[in-house]
Amino acid sequence: MIETIKEHLTQVEKFTADNLNDIEDFRIKYLGKKGLLNDFFAEFKNVPGDQKKEFGQTINQLKTAALEKVNALKAELENKQQEANIYGDLTRPGTPLELGSRHPISIVKNQIVDIFSRIGFNVSEGPEMEDDWHNFTALNLPEYHPARDMQDTFFIQTDPDILLRTHTSSVQVRYMENNQPPIRTISPGRVYRNEAISARSHCFFHQVEGLYIDKGVSFADLKQTLQYFTTEMFGKSRIRLRPSYFPFTEPSAEVDVYWGLETETDYKMTKGTGWLEIMGCGMVDPNVLQNCGIDPNEYSGFAFGMGIDRIALLLHQISDIRMLSENDVRFLKQFKSVL
Ligand code: DAH
Repeated sequence: MIETIKEHLTQVEKFTADNLNDIEDFRIKYLGKKGLLNDFFAEFKNVPGDQKKEFGQTINQLKTAALEKVNALKAELENKQQEANIYGDLTRPGTPLELGSRHPISIVKNQIVDIFSRIGFNVSEGPEMEDDWHNFTALNLPEYHPARDMQDTFFIQTDPDILLRTHTSSVQVRYMENNQPPIRTISPGRVYRNEAISARSHCFFHQVEGLYIDKGVSFADLKQTLQYFTTEMFGKSRIRLRPSYFPFTEPSAEVDVYWGLETETDYKMTKGTGWLEIMGCGMVDPNVLQNCGIDPNEYSGFAFGMGIDRIALLLHQISDIRMLSENDVRFLKQFKSVL
């Protein structure tokens, strides 16, 4: 008899079930009113005296084991159900995660920021809604200055003093007002101009402004910095500076990089010249330094400004600037592999 009980004990220990019915059948089989345990207990009186102790211990063992098994199986089942409520069916194949992609404007902006941060430039930002002082007057463009017409401005109707910034040069004014030299900063951001929208121009686009102010900064420093930039950015070190005019710099220059004429695309991009215009630059006009609270007798510096959109179009061979703001996923998806 004791052997039978021991056998049951192993069976009880081995038993598993994954639904309530089976657990309940198991419970009834051992612990129910007409269950095996009651039969065994009833048998107790027939056991010879010297075996009673062992017999009693074994049935008690069986009883505890059966009880524990029922409780453990029930708890396990409950846990599983709770998990299922939280996660659903855990064995189901997952839904694939769609990887996002960076916008080409962000890709190019990050590249530019990275290149200049390697030579000690920090990043500064300013508001897109500006006042006349920071966008024009402080930059040596007083009221009625003819060069104000170079950039068609969106004014905020209720206040002619407030406008959407036409360039990120406004950020250099804010930066100089709040920081003394040495200054090395680049300011990426969105700018607005009241222009007809076409494949080549938009009423908003993006620029990066650069500013370097310190004692004894010369035009040679500017040229060297720009050459470092074009080498890192485009892998092209040949640049040329053409005299130009900006009210906030004197002298001013337009920067071209020699792209080459190796492929048909090179011909198209450079209109057959091999040269590509990439930015405007110059030595910060002493009036601007003065306007921003920096002593032009002590300090000098250079500034430059470039269009991010234009560079993005060039580098990624995008034929229409409007694609950059249409949010067409078929277009945006193509930049998945670029960081
Ligand atoms: N602000 C000019 C523009 O929007 C770009 C520019 C040219 C910025 C020369 C500069 C600079 O800082 O020195 O066309």
